[in-house]
Amino acid sequence: MASPAAAASGHRRRLLLLLIALLLLPFAAAAAPHRHRVPSRHLASLNASAPPTTFFEVDRPIRPPLGSAGPCSALLLSHSFGETYGRPPVTAAYAPPECLAAARARGASLALAVLEWAADCRGRQFDRIFGVWLSGAELLRSCTAEPRATGIVWSVSRDVTRYAALLNEPGEVAVYLGNLVDKTYTGVYHVNLTLHLYFHPAPPPLTQHADLIVPISRSLPLNDGQWFAVQNATDVQSKSLSIPSNTYRAVLEVSVSFHSSDEFWYTNPPNEYIQANNLSSVSGNGAFREVIVKVDDHIVGAVWPFTVIYTGGINPLLWRPITGIGSFNLPTYDIDITPFLGKLLDGKEHNFGFAVTNALDVWYIDANLHLWLDHKSKKTVGSLISYDAPALALNLDYGFSGLDGKFVTGASRHVSATGSVKSSYGEVTTTFYQRFSYVNSNVYRSNGTVQVVNQTIDAKSGVFVKDTSAVLLSEEVHKVFPLYVYTGTSDQVGDEYSLISLVKLGINEKSVSGGKLGFSYRSLRNAQSARGTMKVKKNLVVSGLGQTHQVYKYMGTDGCYFRDVSSKNYTIISDNSGDSCSKGSPSSGVKFSSNKNQPARKRLLKL
Ligand SMILES: *[C@@H]1O[C@H](CO)[C@@H](O)[C@H](O)[C@H]1NC(C)=O
Ligand SMILES: *[C@@H]1O[C@H](CO)[C@@H](O)[C@H](O)[C@H]1NC(C)=O
Ligand SMILES: *[C@@H]1O[C@H](CO)[C@@H](O)[C@H](O)[C@H]1NC(C)=O
Ligand SMILES: *[C@@H]1O[C@H](CO)[C@@H](O)[C@H](O)[C@H]1NC(C)=O
Ligand SMILES: *[C@@H]1O[C@H](CO)[C@@H](O)[C@H](O)[C@H]1NC(C)=O
Ligand SMILES: *[C@@H]1O[C@H](CO)[C@@H](O)[C@H](O)[C@H]1NC(C)=O
Ligand SMILES: *[C@@H]1O[C@H](CO)[C@@H](O)[C@H](O)[C@H]1NC(C)=O
Repeated sequence: MASPAAAASGHRRRLLLLLIALLLLPFAAAAAPHRHRVPSRHLASLNASAPPTTFFEVDRPIRPPLGSAGPCSALLLSHSFGETYGRPPVTAAYAPPECLAAARARGASLALAVLEWAADCRGRQFDRIFGVWLSGAELLRSCTAEPRATGIVWSVSRDVTRYAALLNEPGEVAVYLGNLVDKTYTGVYHVNLTLHLYFHPAPPPLTQHADLIVPISRSLPLNDGQWFAVQNATDVQSKSLSIPSNTYRAVLEVSVSFHSSDEFWYTNPPNEYIQANNLSSVSGNGAFREVIVKVDDHIVGAVWPFTVIYTGGINPLLWRPITGIGSFNLPTYDIDITPFLGKLLDGKEHNFGFAVTNALDVWYIDANLHLWLDHKSKKTVGSLISYDAPALALNLDYGFSGLDGKFVTGASRHVSATGSVKSSYGEVTTTFYQRFSYVNSNVYRSNGTVQVVNQTIDAKSGVFVKDTSAVLLSEEVHKVFPLYVYTGTSDQVGDEYSLISLVKLGINEKSVSGGKLGFSYRSLRNAQSARGTMKVKKNLVVSGLGQTHQVYKYMGTDGCYFRDVSSKNYTIISDNSGDSCSKGSPSSGVKFSSNKNQPARKRLLKL
């Protein structure tokens, strides 16, 4: 993933680093299996008149709610991202689409808003991280697909209904996609960004979406994205702001991505191994990272991020055309900070800060603060009742001899807070907790040419909201992120080597919620298994093969979705999907209809 390493001097810096590594540390650089990312790839003999390949991330379609009408679509921005690295984001004035104002005027409500990123590219190019902001609030964090000579197309759709408050107001759309184009890296990303809106005839339930969204990001003008860049373990990036004094609920939605030295943080050995083996080209500080979110002096929560592998990661041929889980649509992480409102309702500025435990350069982090306001009162009153945030528990067991060794890292953290808020809706008590655990085993063998990483992140969180008479909301979410990465380097001679890789990556998520808004249940099992080979020469992939199998199973009170898809050498070789929830299937209790060999579904269903 290109980031500051592809900065100023861009890939030249990478090549230089590699060159320095090769010159200074021929054996160390040669033997160490840390080539998780190849900055460019060139596969010979492509037929330039062949049709473009459609890349995609497997996800369930976004369905407009029953009885809603639409879409009414508005093009927000159209741009060709060529020489954009280190330049200001591309911006466009945002005016709420006329249909949105008209719907509000007739008492209808927004049922669904979908942001669609559609792009094409041809040639050769790095994978680039990009962000889309509306009035400073991040709406999409994503990574570009890597083009082929014959061209590629892809699209990403994200449900942005929760930003209704922002969509209703004039503002500014900003897109930062830092790209560099030269004789070698020819790909220009052509992009259309479109908003699709669907409406309900009736007004919305009052409490559904926030009344105000306050961006916790960097303000324009900037020659970068609006995210903060956290560069090391002591770096804290923050913003001070005040919130309306009639706030009665507050949720911080955090966006996170990791690049350059920490792109593959979960494979990093401790510094001691690096020093002992003089591996100056390898990233260290061990394999544990977490984002800490602070409001003033309180740790209000943490993010133990899903290990997104970008489209150039490990072996780029694994992610063509089925991209890595989350790479086109990075997950965001919610931290309910309502218990802390007692500290924030004084009309004064408070500091919202982000740090990353053990960070290496660089983490891009920002957040959207979703606020619910008491429309019947100018002032709400809060108090923090209890708060518990013991220090991170982190342990490392290891042993190594030369380049071979084993490192087992374990970690756990717990944060919980309870607070009450008095508003015209009564006195409401909110408890929010997070409970994390993590284990990572990192083994080097065959004189460091083989690395095997097996990691599991387990994150539980819950919100309980009650007033004096009833439970208003009780929600529990359990996420498990398994990851297995095998890489084997061989035939290393000078600047040439071969790499075999095997990657297993998944998200298992369950959530149950109950209370006044009714019961809901969601369960997702999303797993990828990818294997590939590649031959690399002078930092270019000269040949190789990748294959990927993905199974996505979603069951929820809002519907079901299933897809089982496999690809090999750029081609989809099997693809079954369905959306039936009927009972009776022997394995999952869910029966899915089969659409064998149907092309990838477009995620947005047109009414
Ligand atoms: C192991 O790798 C190191 C560094 O590349 C090299 O110096 C050493 O000769 C290798 N040892 C064996 C037994 O191959
Ligand atoms: C290139 O691809 C086009 C379209 O797929 C095909 O018609 C043509 O025969 C191909 N040319 C060669 C040299 O393979
Ligand atoms: C963007 O929209 C224009 C105009 O409709 C269209 O010609 C172009 O193909 C679109 N580009 C992409 C990448 O979707
Ligand atoms: C960490 O990063 C910050 C921000 O870039 C910088 O000011 C500081 O010097 C760095 N600290 C270390 C120890 O590198
Ligand atoms: C690492 O470098 C130091 C000093 O340059 C040298 O003494 C030591 O032998 C080197 N160790 C290895 C494993 O190459
Ligand atoms: C990873 O480790 C877990 C136990 O922590 C084990 O159950 C699992 O089989 C391992 N995965 C692989 C692919 O070896
Ligand atoms: C992969 O596909 C290309 C055509 O796109 C073909 O030339 C090549 O032989 C295929 N490789 C394998 C190993 O199937």
